Amino acid sequence: MKYTDQEIRDYIKKANDILNKAYVPYSKFQVGAVLIDEKGNIHKGINVENASFGLTICAERNAISTAVTEGMKKISLIVITGNTEEPISPCGMCRQVIREFSDDETRIVLASSKTDKYTVWTVDEILPYSFGPEHL
Ligand code: THU
Repeated sequence: MKYTDQEIRDYIKKANDILNKAYVPYSKFQVGAVLIDEKGNIHKGINVENASFGLTICAERNAISTAVTEGMKKISLIVITGNTEEPISPCGMCRQVIREFSDDETRIVLASSKTDKYTVWTVDEILPYSFGPEHL
């Protein structure tokens, strides 16, 4: 793994630091994502809810949209955190969107603002037998 425990913990802190920016008047469930791209640039996202609930956009997808806008081609590392007791688990839609910009080297870190615990995953582990651009 090309990231040390300390680097991962620093990125988790960055993700926890933006949780208070999450726009979550309905669920109160704050999610933050910090993405490191193939050039080492950092991009961030939080979840943005809507009075029309189905229009909510998750933190991971907001981070990825911002990163793509800024030229990201590949996710090197994405940290996802929540105001949860245990490391958060990303939704299926976000797993698929992460997969679009990932390869075997991509690492997905799941964390929480309420515990020091974190877990590290590959895309194939969180979304096995997945569909991707090479299948079209
Ligand atoms: N949420 C995310 O931001 N990412 C996920 O992977 C899971 C769910 C958000 C959407 C909504 O604002 C809140 O968490 C509760 O579902």
